Amino acid sequence: MGLRQSDGLNQRRSNMNSYRTHHCAQLRKPDIGQRVVLSGWVDARRDHGGLVFVDLRDREGVTQIVFDPQQIPESHDLRSEYVIRVEGEVAPRPEGTVNPKLVTGEIEVKAAQLCALNKSETPPYPLDEENVNEDLRLQYRYLDLRRRPMIANLRMRHRVTKIIRDYFDEQGFLEIETPMLFKSTPEGAREYLVPSRTNPGLFYALPQSPQQFKQLLMVAGVEKYFQIARCFRDEDLRADRQPEFTQVDVEMSFIGREDIYRVIEGMLKCIWKGAINHDLQIPLPRIAYQDAMNDFGADKPDRRFGIQLKDFTDTFRSSGFKVFAGAVASGGVVKAINAKGLACVTQGQIDLLTEQAKTMGAKGLAWIKVEGGAWKSPIVKFFSEAEKSALTERLVIEEGDLILFAADKWSAACEVLGKLRLTVAEMLQKMGKLNIPKDVFDFFWVVDFPLITFDPETQKYKATHHPFTAPVDEDIPLLDREPTKVRGQHYDLVVNGIELAGGSIRIHQADVQRKVFEDVLKIPKETAESRFGYLIKALGYGAPPHGGIAPGLDRIVALVCGTENIREVIAFPKNARAQDLMTGAPAEVEPRQLRELRIQTEGRRPQ
Ligand code: AMO
Ligand code: AMP
Repeated sequence: MGLRQSDGLNQRRSNMNSYRTHHCAQLRKPDIGQRVVLSGWVDARRDHGGLVFVDLRDREGVTQIVFDPQQIPESHDLRSEYVIRVEGEVAPRPEGTVNPKLVTGEIEVKAAQLCALNKSETPPYPLDEENVNEDLRLQYRYLDLRRRPMIANLRMRHRVTKIIRDYFDEQGFLEIETPMLFKSTPEGAREYLVPSRTNPGLFYALPQSPQQFKQLLMVAGVEKYFQIARCFRDEDLRADRQPEFTQVDVEMSFIGREDIYRVIEGMLKCIWKGAINHDLQIPLPRIAYQDAMNDFGADKPDRRFGIQLKDFTDTFRSSGFKVFAGAVASGGVVKAINAKGLACVTQGQIDLLTEQAKTMGAKGLAWIKVEGGAWKSPIVKFFSEAEKSALTERLVIEEGDLILFAADKWSAACEVLGKLRLTVAEMLQKMGKLNIPKDVFDFFWVVDFPLITFDPETQKYKATHHPFTAPVDEDIPLLDREPTKVRGQHYDLVVNGIELAGGSIRIHQADVQRKVFEDVLKIPKETAESRFGYLIKALGYGAPPHGGIAPGLDRIVALVCGTENIREVIAFPKNARAQDLMTGAPAEVEPRQLRELRIQTEGRRPQ
């Protein structure tokens, strides 16, 4: 190509001593007549033969450049994403060519000089294309990030992070970095292990969160700690989960739950105001875990729409329909939802809903369609008139409705209907029969979680959140007798069905912590000692009462950016298989490296 290339350095030494006098979103009508220098990328090019128009783009925006190829013949050679420096004069756009959508839309720059700073390969896809395969975007992430919405997201992330740092600084918190090379604590999510060369055969683990270090900082007397902390979890990925993600990690001493609520609500108010000028109403409502499960079948309910769960355990206790009566007889419950207007589902769709219920462990899915004035269902024939009228009244059953039932143990029945509630809401939304508002932020705290839960898989008690959470004081006597009845001093912050933060008041007495590990969670003394001995030991040296919380930064930023996918607000995220498609990580390593670490592998598993 005939384009004259120049490295920036020579350029700077010659005529103008800078790449730019303005950025590409800066020039306006009052600048008309000025001699300016702009540098950036060729965003779009329209070659009209007599004139060449280029939309020149930099991080800030776009300015239209007009070249006269008679004067600058190289302008014919410009292509998308070439990096150029242009010197010229600001001129008004001719009548009828003003672009009101651009802040620079009233002017253009008439180029006097063009310097190509770099060429570009033809991008693998037009950068402004909407529906590009995400794997391709991730493979060329450096191009993807040139797109306006992506740069806006990065900018928003920066702004939110700055607001957070300023906020905690003003509140007297210290930002303290904690180690990335940590010790494996296998209770939580699966961890990323890091072999130690200097201690052959031994491993570090990357932290799932700075939980233990922040508690140790409280023992150390730091009192108010925060950190924008990178965390690592080897879990199955979803739109709102990444293997490495960022928490706004917080811990405080000499505080109770109310103090945490106040600090976090203040932080949210600042973020929502500073980032999107939205006035968040605080204090936020609180709902008990039990109520969230009973009404919505989820511990992080999306309350922007109804379809609430109703309990019919008493109605069906001695029903002629044995599936329901049997479930109640064995200590279970009968619950139902009314998907208003969804009687039009096909049998195929009902089968899919049934499959969904079954994959969650339900034995079946009983349903009723109300069509043509009649209840259509394989099970209605077993219902008494009293049962039917109880359903009609409490579910407000009308023509066109679809009723779904779950009969099972309390938590299983709630969870199944909770998931089906989300599925039917999505179906209704697609049909235009339900509107889930996008611009509403329904924030609330979920409180009074059980401290421990019985895990039917392992037949053991496990900490509902983590084993450092303190029991509610008045429930401590129940620890021995009825451990599942003990409420934990845990709290989750939920918005629109997303868990945004979780935290708790911690156990700060060594003997209570030991009791929870050994007597309640039945972790053998030696195991508890080898895994958490240092923490229990530290609690024994005058640990103050303390507690904390960790909001997910990626989820916060995604919310204020109006996206559900946290990959959109992370510069270099992993794909759903935890791969970095751009660099090719994870990758094989040299045999020499493995020998040095005394690691033998069986090689790669066939894909
Ligand atoms: P928890 O495990 O609840 O608590 O995590 C806190 C918050 O971190 C975010 N988060 C994630 N974000 C993206 N990708 C992931 N894989 C991911 N996992 C979690 C969520 C979540 O609410 N140490 C405790 C906090 C404490 O008790 O202070 C903890 O880590 O927004
Ligand atoms: P069955 O008598 O097992 O054929 O079940 C009758 C109907 O009840 C079928 O539609 C099943 O899918 C449904 N069903 C069975 N078990 C349950 C359950 N635990 N909860 C809700 N519905 C169920």
